[in-house]
Amino acid sequence: MSARKSNPSIDKTEKPHDFVTAMLDWYAQHKRPIPWRSPQEQHPNPYHVWLSEIMCQQTTVGAVVPYFLKFIALWPDIFALAKADRDQIMQEWAGLGYYARARNLHQCAQTIVKDYNGVFPSTQSELKTLPGIGEYTSAAIAAIAFNRPATVVDGNIERVMTRFCAITDPLPQSKPAIKRHASVYFSAADDRCGDFAQSLMDLGAAICIPKTPKCTMCPVHYGCKARKMGVEASLPAKKKKAANPQKFGYVYWIKKDDQVLLQQRPDTEMLGGMHGFPCTDWVHKSDKENIVTPENIIINEDLDVSIFHSFTHFDLELHLMRASIEKPLKPDMKWVSIQDFKPDTLPTLFKKVWSLGITH
Ligand code: ADE
Repeated sequence: MSARKSNPSIDKTEKPHDFVTAMLDWYAQHKRPIPWRSPQEQHPNPYHVWLSEIMCQQTTVGAVVPYFLKFIALWPDIFALAKADRDQIMQEWAGLGYYARARNLHQCAQTIVKDYNGVFPSTQSELKTLPGIGEYTSAAIAAIAFNRPATVVDGNIERVMTRFCAITDPLPQSKPAIKRHASVYFSAADDRCGDFAQSLMDLGAAICIPKTPKCTMCPVHYGCKARKMGVEASLPAKKKKAANPQKFGYVYWIKKDDQVLLQQRPDTEMLGGMHGFPCTDWVHKSDKENIVTPENIIINEDLDVSIFHSFTHFDLELHLMRASIEKPLKPDMKWVSIQDFKPDTLPTLFKKVWSLGITH
């Protein structure tokens, strides 16, 4: 890797204010047309900004857009969402993952209607008291919806800042340093914090991309310290993650005539609030001999197939059994018609089980 010399006469990014100006000029030309962004002369809609920011946590903009459009068509404002049936919200969220976000979304809408007459608070500190809104989301909403001063650092901004400032310590330890560096630039954005944040997000998504950054197209590449050192492609450094624990459980395909049995998962467990198929506990593979069959389930046949699914913190094998159920049903269980049921309303894990179950 060869170090590159900087050319001070063309480095328009040495001072934070100049960096901000270069980014805002670039954004004016290259801003992505995303449905929750308002035209230049219009105020952003805080409901749209909040909804999009919750959906974008751990999820790409491309995956979020169809869900965002569906949600604002079904529930055009915070009042409509607060009044909505939680089960319907959960079903419409199916496939987007991280289901605590959907539970908190409903609770947050109800809090804003009840405690704030449906008007979003505009400061980061007030926003942070609301369900599902933490450090990042409060900063993003304060900046993007209200142009309040805030330092917004998501994964894309993290990468841009790490490279521009050549922060070589690995993530996640480097997070506080990244935030400190970012805050210097956000302080120079004055009343354009929202556009500045989104310019960095777009730069990270289109140009300052993970493995092969397109530096020649970058409006701030002359000042980028990682590029000067020739280390841009290897930043941000990441601490090696330990291998995911391997978990195991049984899942039951329980059919009666043309119906199959679903069960709603408790709020306190993985996929909480979503419907799925009755399951045992999910245990470490080494404990699979000790798994206990749920009390009202009778195993009829080992179907000798499994589905595999990776969550962020563990990998899961669910082994499929044909079973029947003793009456009475538990209150969280329901029969659905195999013909009419829409498997898209299930989380991805159970959509895989559905596909396997209907073919066995
Ligand atoms: N990721 C999260 N929020 C975003 C936004 N407003 N624009 C682009 N990407 C985003």
